[in-house]
Amino acid sequence: MKNLLALNWKMNKTPSEARSWAAELSERFEAGNAELVVMAPFVTISALAANLPAGVGLGAQDVSAHESGAYTGETSAAMLADLGVGYVVVGHSERREYHGETDAEVAAKAKLVQANGLVPIVCVGEKLDVREKGQQVASTLAQLSGSLEGVGADVVVAYEPVWAIGTGKTATAVAAEELAAAIRSALETRYGKKASDIRILYGGSVKPDNIASICAKPNVNGALVGGASLKVPDVLGMNEALKDI
Ligand code: PGA
Repeated sequence: MKNLLALNWKMNKTPSEARSWAAELSERFEAGNAELVVMAPFVTISALAANLPAGVGLGAQDVSAHESGAYTGETSAAMLADLGVGYVVVGHSERREYHGETDAEVAAKAKLVQANGLVPIVCVGEKLDVREKGQQVASTLAQLSGSLEGVGADVVVAYEPVWAIGTGKTATAVAAEELAAAIRSALETRYGKKASDIRILYGGSVKPDNIASICAKPNVNGALVGGASLKVPDVLGMNEALKDI
């Protein structure tokens, strides 16, 4: 299975900056073994669509849980599909934390994403206090179960331990694999044989120098990357690091 390198810009880059980033990437990018996708802020998606090199796809960081209508400020899955977006992150821990998103809302979003022909990247992962109590597997699987309620198998799951996001503290490859394997077996229970085709990403302080060891683990099929997605040399470094994996 091809690794997926999902570049989560979060709330960074104006449309002009996105254009420059895409131009710089285009100069040196060579498609390798990984599939790359930029999870862009809504307002930069069009700028990227016109400037990304072949082999790099478009993604979004969130979507409305409603189909259309009187929801001021929201962006629908149909709008994203029309822009050429392929993947949509749902349930990122920052949305859960700062916007109070529940598992049920995350599942509603994921279902609408799928109904519009796009692939949701459903994020789960424990906070530090949960890990300190050794409850990371149970907690993450409970979150996963609620977030996938009614969601089809055409999905990507991102395991992102909250304590590792933006902190420089990466889970060890062994710890990432522990959770990825637990997630895989929960997906098998839910989707049967189709579970073996579902990509499980790791996220949390991934960089060019640690991505290979994490993605080499049998149940990890790529990474969701925040900080290291902003600079083109880091992205090229990660793409290169995934070449032989
Ligand atoms: P980070 O963010 O790579 O900056 O830790 C990952 C994420 O939040 O998706």
